[in-house]
Amino acid sequence: MFKRLLVTLTACSRLASAVPFPQSGVSVQASNLDACPGYSASNVVKTDSTLTADLSLAGTACNIYSEDLEELKLLVEYQSNERLHIKIYDAGLNAYQVQEEVLPRPKNGNTASSDAALQFDIVEQPFSFKVTRKENGEVLFDTSAASLVFERQYVRLRTSMPKDPNVYGLGEHSDSFRFHTDSYNRVLFAAESPNIPNNSNLYGTHPVYFDHRGDRGTHGVFLVNSSPMNVVLTKTESGDQYLEYNTIGGIMDFYFMAGKQPADVSKQYADIVGYPAMFPYWAFGFHQCKYGYWDVNMVAEVVANYSTAGIPLEVMWTDIDYMNLRQDFTTDPDRFPVTKMRELVSTLHERDQRYILILDPGVHAVDYDTYNKGHEMDVFLKAADGTDLLGVQWPGEVAWPDWFHPNTAQWWTEEMQAAFDADSGIDIDGIWVDMNEASNFCADQNCNPRQKAIDDGIPPKPANSPRPNTGRPIPGFPNSFQPSSTGSSLKSRDTKALSPRQDVWGQSKGFPDREWFNPKYDIKSHRGNLTSLTIYTNTTNYDGTWQYDTHSLYGHMMALTTQQSMVTRRPALRPFVLTRSTWAGSGRKVAHWFGDNESSWEHYRTSIRQMLSFVAMHQMPMVGSDVCGFNGNADEYMCARWALLGAFQPFYRNHAADNARTQEFYQWPLVATAAQKAIATRYKLIDYIYTALHYQTTTGAPMINPMFFLYPNDTNTFAIQEQWFYGDALLVSPVTTDYSDTVTYYLPDDVFYNYWTYAKYEGRGINVTETNLTYTDIPVHIRGGTIIPHRANSANTTKALRSEEFYLVVAPGRDGKAAGRLYLDEGEMVQQDRVSEIEFSFEGGTFSAGGSFAYAGADGESVTVASVVVLGREQAGATGTFDAEKGTIEVSGPWELSGDWGFEI
Ligand code: NOJ
Repeated sequence: MFKRLLVTLTACSRLASAVPFPQSGVSVQASNLDACPGYSASNVVKTDSTLTADLSLAGTACNIYSEDLEELKLLVEYQSNERLHIKIYDAGLNAYQVQEEVLPRPKNGNTASSDAALQFDIVEQPFSFKVTRKENGEVLFDTSAASLVFERQYVRLRTSMPKDPNVYGLGEHSDSFRFHTDSYNRVLFAAESPNIPNNSNLYGTHPVYFDHRGDRGTHGVFLVNSSPMNVVLTKTESGDQYLEYNTIGGIMDFYFMAGKQPADVSKQYADIVGYPAMFPYWAFGFHQCKYGYWDVNMVAEVVANYSTAGIPLEVMWTDIDYMNLRQDFTTDPDRFPVTKMRELVSTLHERDQRYILILDPGVHAVDYDTYNKGHEMDVFLKAADGTDLLGVQWPGEVAWPDWFHPNTAQWWTEEMQAAFDADSGIDIDGIWVDMNEASNFCADQNCNPRQKAIDDGIPPKPANSPRPNTGRPIPGFPNSFQPSSTGSSLKSRDTKALSPRQDVWGQSKGFPDREWFNPKYDIKSHRGNLTSLTIYTNTTNYDGTWQYDTHSLYGHMMALTTQQSMVTRRPALRPFVLTRSTWAGSGRKVAHWFGDNESSWEHYRTSIRQMLSFVAMHQMPMVGSDVCGFNGNADEYMCARWALLGAFQPFYRNHAADNARTQEFYQWPLVATAAQKAIATRYKLIDYIYTALHYQTTTGAPMINPMFFLYPNDTNTFAIQEQWFYGDALLVSPVTTDYSDTVTYYLPDDVFYNYWTYAKYEGRGINVTETNLTYTDIPVHIRGGTIIPHRANSANTTKALRSEEFYLVVAPGRDGKAAGRLYLDEGEMVQQDRVSEIEFSFEGGTFSAGGSFAYAGADGESVTVASVVVLGREQAGATGTFDAEKGTIEVSGPWELSGDWGFEI
């Protein structure tokens, strides 16, 4: 045993000095970690489906970044055939453990270890463990490369990885989809992130990675830990490869997902964090927003301009401009008076369009209703003296709701219900929660919020500058849409102190007395130290946990609470909530956009890889970027390309900063043409993607597929990040070079059909170059073996779209077969009493439709298939019309989607 210990320590020293850690601060201190003794396991008890052990510090404490913990516990559970749970935690139960309300833990199925796909092996002295894929002996995780370090404010666990591994996930980031693994650090700590910098922590954190090993399988590793952390991928000079967790709080609480196919890992991840929410059908429509729409007239005018330009607009949004002095749950009495807002919304609703407003977490700490009620109900986070903790956000000095306080949900819901009441308020269709990392304009705890707000001139005084677009008739809107002036005044706030919160020991709430702001191990957040520009990390939540550990959950909890408020407000309807900050499992309730990108080609490309990670690896299907970019000025050519790109991403919203030029799609003729084509195509495909979303919500199979998900054994696909499958049938390969008319894309060894011309291509597993692509072109291919339902025509709104008949495109694979699905429901209700789940298949020249057909349509909706087009035909068949040029046979119906049907060609 002693000999073994020595060998390991020697190995450690060699590695530690050779590992090129990316941060200089880390590398200096990392070598000191060699002195850390690791742990020895004892009392190892095995049952059929579990293993437990005690872990004791195996020597003199090294206390590198804080005090080493003497006693730990190990718990291993074979929770299902594909899921292994491994938890290492402190015996004293002080280190923070993520609350159940944040992440309800999956049910433990207590599988017999003999039935499991994964195997856990323990080495007792010095303690390490290994996870192996039984079927092929592949070692997925092996921590023997370095000793476990478990301190109050630092936990390190390192696993060996195969050479040049294919690792993905660990959102949110703007880096390559497949990570560089020589020297790469993922910082996980939610942060406001203007211009979404590379190599940085961004708005949300998702501590899960996918490790894809080609035909040896794909597995996933999820660490349930929300404390600030670095996940470092390194390769030593001698070529050894590692992945290392460095967290400065919490415990090592792992779920291993066995795969073995990439999409299986997605499903297994959904089993843990929850299956995503089903969103309303209309959410797939096109959305328009901008920060800086001056008044309600201007908002109406944008809507009208879209109609005039013949570009379908489904959802209009308004940013913080609508608020009175930027206070949540108020409206500016002059520029956005409630009566006028109500007229705007009813006009939109009459036109079958929707309206969404924004909310921020910072509640203006002045004498106004929302704040006063919140204060009375004690819902705000507290400073050490028991007064409401203050910071600065858009309105100026703000208090921060404590989403862990039992009164907060009630207070927030009541505010939502009053402000957004259908009869007296603004009858919104969805809500947007922003700034919830949380972003604080105060740099640190030394800031005086009131002074800071004064110095920054916030809230800004409404300018008397001439208003754009006012005084002109706005087609389709009531005559009352005219401009007026503004003004308001503030009263001072109630500063009464409530009781301060108490420290809690022994309940896994987090150690009370820690270095809150500058812990010795610096995770290197791009915002500065831990407390910089956010809620101070020494703040306790109502339940006794600390912002230090729960910081990255703030937005997730705000989003979950808001979603529940929307459900309470309109119980029958599926809520639509868009959030900026997210955590593991946010997708089970809400949608996400990628924050403040730039109007740049680089961020046009970045949006693709962000989408791939979120949909396929974080179980957040309803995502997208600000189309045409947020910061900076969009230009015509980029915006035209982005209008097309965005149409093939789940959430499709054009949004720009207040100081950016207007970039609505009608602003340039070229963009208008691109957008008309993009939206028409998207709308014809809505039922196809809605079906894909439905199956992601019920099976976890991603509705957007990275190339390697469908071609997992083709090594050429592993790093592809500028092509994707929209659903599982449409391969999108946009032009990604700035101002280019050319794109080189990869076609795997399979049969494909050009989506626009139906021309057949034999993919040969090589790159293909297309040139002379105009700014209204986007290459899309249909993967052989699929059947895609379309609406026969597009429409101005998704409501009108539903009265269009269907047509089906059958794209046979090399074996001559094809299959596809169509899910139909009413589109908006939570409870769907009648749905259709239709399976289409094509084999040996026979087409058939089967499955369940309970959805009959309502209000003139069509559930009729007008025709079926079979691609890749070289000659006419017994039925249908043969088009020799296109290589298609079109068979005309109609067929009702009310029972089985079929035909032969
Ligand atoms: C920051 C958000 O990311 C952005 O989308 C929004 O326009 C501004 N806040 C103003 O509310």
